[in-house]
Amino acid sequence: MKLIAPSLLSADFLNLEHDIEMLNRSEADWLHCDVMDGRFVPNISFGIPVVQAIKKKAQKPLDVHLMIVEPEKYFEAFAKAGADIITFHYEACTHIHRAVQQIKALGIHAGVVLNPHTPVAVLEDILGDLDVVLLMSVNPGFGGQKFIERTYEKVRKLRSMIAAQNTTALIEVDGGVNTKNAKALFEAGADVLVAGNAVFKSEDPMETISLMKNS
Ligand code: DX5
Ligand code: ZN
Repeated sequence: MKLIAPSLLSADFLNLEHDIEMLNRSEADWLHCDVMDGRFVPNISFGIPVVQAIKKKAQKPLDVHLMIVEPEKYFEAFAKAGADIITFHYEACTHIHRAVQQIKALGIHAGVVLNPHTPVAVLEDILGDLDVVLLMSVNPGFGGQKFIERTYEKVRKLRSMIAAQNTTALIEVDGGVNTKNAKALFEAGADVLVAGNAVFKSEDPMETISLMKNS
């Protein structure tokens, strides 16, 4: 699968409606919402009321990436706010299996995120329960960082784990993704590419989304 999930972290916060309408018209598949708490990551972005507002205009699924400690406390609130997919960090949660079941019980899709230093092997015994695995290709917290090249190897490893278990989790990659590395990421086995700066800082965001999707 080749899906594009533009990250609203790089959108114009004074004019979110304008950017969401552009994404509705574009070839984007999901809208990626980065929630940061200033504890799990050294930055604070936006939370539940903003996701709720985005939902009112978005015509595509909301992919909510929680970069927060104790994420399980907030699954219900984000599901009510309109999340269609919730991903939370392996590094921020002790009881991953329980947390995944909690998200699914809310009637939405569940995913686990791995920081660049966390090996994909830690997901071996939970992979069959996951709808998405999100591999961070930068250290989470900020848009506009440089892509970590080792990510390709992680994507390939995860792709073979998924094949070996004959399961269906989508592989999502987040951080430093652009029109130059999109093709190689899809070839390595990624299904969903998140892109913030590459989309919103480009001259023609709709064209950039199209280029990435068709690369
Ligand atoms: C980083 C976030 C990303 C970020 C990506 O912590 O999880 O989703 O918005 O931004 P770019 O594509 O600019 O690296
Ligand atoms: Zn993200």
